[in-house]
Amino acid sequence: MKDIYILGIESSCDETSMSIVKNGREVLSNVISSQIDIHKIYGGVVPEIASRKHIDNINYVFDEAMKKSKMSIWDIDGIAVTYGPGLVGALLVGLSYAKALSLSSNKKLIAVNHIEGHIAANYITSKELKPPFLALIVSGGHTNLVLVEDYLKFKIYGSTRDDAVGESFDKVARSLGLSYPGGPKIEEKAQFGEKDKYIFPRANIKEAPFDFSFSGLKSSVINTINSLKQNYISENKLYNKTVKDVILDNQSICDISKAFQDSIIDTLVSKTVELANHLDIKNVAICGGVSANKTICKALSDELNKSDKKLFCPEFKYCTDNAAMIASAGYFRYLHKDFADMSINADANLKFEGN
Ligand code: KG4
Ligand code: ZN
Repeated sequence: MKDIYILGIESSCDETSMSIVKNGREVLSNVISSQIDIHKIYGGVVPEIASRKHIDNINYVFDEAMKKSKMSIWDIDGIAVTYGPGLVGALLVGLSYAKALSLSSNKKLIAVNHIEGHIAANYITSKELKPPFLALIVSGGHTNLVLVEDYLKFKIYGSTRDDAVGESFDKVARSLGLSYPGGPKIEEKAQFGEKDKYIFPRANIKEAPFDFSFSGLKSSVINTINSLKQNYISENKLYNKTVKDVILDNQSICDISKAFQDSIIDTLVSKTVELANHLDIKNVAICGGVSANKTICKALSDELNKSDKKLFCPEFKYCTDNAAMIASAGYFRYLHKDFADMSINADANLKFEGN
């Protein structure tokens, strides 16, 4: 069979990325221009700045991706681009670029759902992974348990009712005075935290056992942080100060980080293992930015191993947003001749639905 080369384009949030992937699994280049240092100043992603930075970076990222793969646009079979979900202005930059390239080079355009891309990151790292498997999607915007029945066939078993896992990591980190993105900082601090110094709730939704809810956990953690700060103000008679003026001591930050992360781990592990058992499925793949958290992956892998199941995890660089995963997902759509035309638009709230 002829080799298929897909150019992937990703610009849904704060990373401008392009990648060339051969046959859905072999990465020839994966260039990522991150804007984190700019958004850090504001404590989170500023949509307007993100769009402008994508425009500034996109030509350079394209040139580098081509150069690194030693290919030209004429060697490419299809152009896969994220068209949602994400920030609409940011998505439009990548999508318009992809449309222009497709039109000018007469190459097929493939519209990819960002979440489907995160799942495909596992095909790059684990060449042997094939559907069916259970995917646990844990990103800044999404938390889902999905049965991947086939490359393009998904059945959603669980979703978050409120905050996504990554979002709660970022919000708690902010309250602890840790910089954006909060996930990696909390994981680091948690290593030095005392076990069970604090215990935060684990939410279960009776009528939907595979759904998630993290807003109660987030509120409980933030209340604890504020009480500690308030006590500090009273003990030191700092009556002209508010909780915003106080920074917790490092040990409290570590203890709270650990208790918060332990609550997240218990919830993710118990629901995933229960669903894998319920579906009698052997392989589980984690994906999305939070899958970069080694403590979460180890806990899930250990628990799955106990019932003879296996966890697949993307290589670190494919956990957070990147275009290689979009090219990989695009490859499987290419095989099914699922092409987009020039009428395709960015969809900030694009749903991830089984099809
Ligand atoms: O998938 P991603 O790059 O963007 C979205 O599609 O949302 O995920 C970003 C999220 C952020 O919330 C970030 O804090 C989280 O992934 N994250 C982590 C870790 N590394 C990144 N969360 C927990 N532990 C980590 N080590
Ligand atoms: Zn993402």
